[in-house]
Amino acid sequence: MLLKNGKIFYNGKFANLDIEIDDETGKILKIDRIDEISAGNKGGKILNLSKKVIIPGAIDAHVHFRDFEQAYKEDFLSGSRAAVNGGITRVFEMPNSKPRADCLHIISGKIKKNPDIVNMHFYGSVSDEDFENNAKQIEKFIIAYKFYMYEDKNFDVLEKLNKKISFHAELSNSDNCIRNEVNAIKNLTKISDKFKFTPHICHISTNESLKIAKEKNFTIEVTPHHLLLDKSNDIRFNVRPPLRDERERMKLVRNLNAIDVIASDHAPHSEKEKENGANGFSGVETMLPLMLNLVNKGVLTLEQLIEKICINPAKIFGMNNEIGLNEKANLTVIDLKKEWKIKGDNFYSKSKFTPFEGWNVKGKVSHVVVNGKLVMEDEVLNL
Ligand code: NCD
Ligand code: ZN
Repeated sequence: MLLKNGKIFYNGKFANLDIEIDDETGKILKIDRIDEISAGNKGGKILNLSKKVIIPGAIDAHVHFRDFEQAYKEDFLSGSRAAVNGGITRVFEMPNSKPRADCLHIISGKIKKNPDIVNMHFYGSVSDEDFENNAKQIEKFIIAYKFYMYEDKNFDVLEKLNKKISFHAELSNSDNCIRNEVNAIKNLTKISDKFKFTPHICHISTNESLKIAKEKNFTIEVTPHHLLLDKSNDIRFNVRPPLRDERERMKLVRNLNAIDVIASDHAPHSEKEKENGANGFSGVETMLPLMLNLVNKGVLTLEQLIEKICINPAKIFGMNNEIGLNEKANLTVIDLKKEWKIKGDNFYSKSKFTPFEGWNVKGKVSHVVVNGKLVMEDEVLNL
């Protein structure tokens, strides 16, 4: 396959270069100005991507794809298709599934069920009491451990882990006070000093915790909803951590530079559960467009966005995701100028509720390549 006439993000900057992909291995063969005839002779597909921007495949470092006993909310297939529709080529899937991903049996069940549409990496939980026999065994099969500070209280196990540990930093999952998050981060500064590790903080929602975490060099993640939405009386907007008021939210936006990763916290629920105030909502299909819209508004540069959704999430969790020769082709192609309206009914996710319903955004994903395979072409899924 040959991707022609696009502007690609290569070696840290934009360049007008073509990309040739080996259809058999899915690897990038050539990055250059490539003659159509010579590549065409090999019989591969040729895409004209003029006026499009090609970035390293976007990563969503925080998704709940549920499945198993909660397949009515989402399953790996619907979640993976939703990811592609959102321009995402790699996801990190959370362990608070039912059953919980805290032992080898469950992790291998997840690996087996992966439909392999996007690159899917699984988080492991440290909740199990029989820690040595369970949580420790999964270490080499998971991307990282996840610790929910409102329910996982055995901090001593953290010393024994040899893998990145991500934290849901709230001491209670019903307290909407800012202290609930700030105090969790403060506790974490002591624990990380004691056990000498660098935590990754999921979905930060307050500027004070951001400052404390930054001073300790923790890596920090934020969601689009904490950047874009104020707290609301609509219980369908319930989410953990809660949405804050406009002043607090704008402090996060102003300090976006200090944040390493933007991830969606895609947390699907049934329509009925949402109406009853379940925490969380779909996000994997809206994250990238909402952030491209912010690029168009001048809130951040495209380079900064690429750092936060393509480069840093890979780096923090020990991978490389840059466009390069001999690397698997994971690419997201965007049309920065396209204007459109977000509609939950068009989601591939089973969960159609979005707090961004009806939002007009500028910037859309047009093509997605996962491991050399064209899974979206001209905004249409090829699956
Ligand atoms: C998450 C979910 O639904 O799994 N919900 C949320 O509001 N973020 C759980 C969680 O992260 O606590
Ligand atoms: Zn989550």
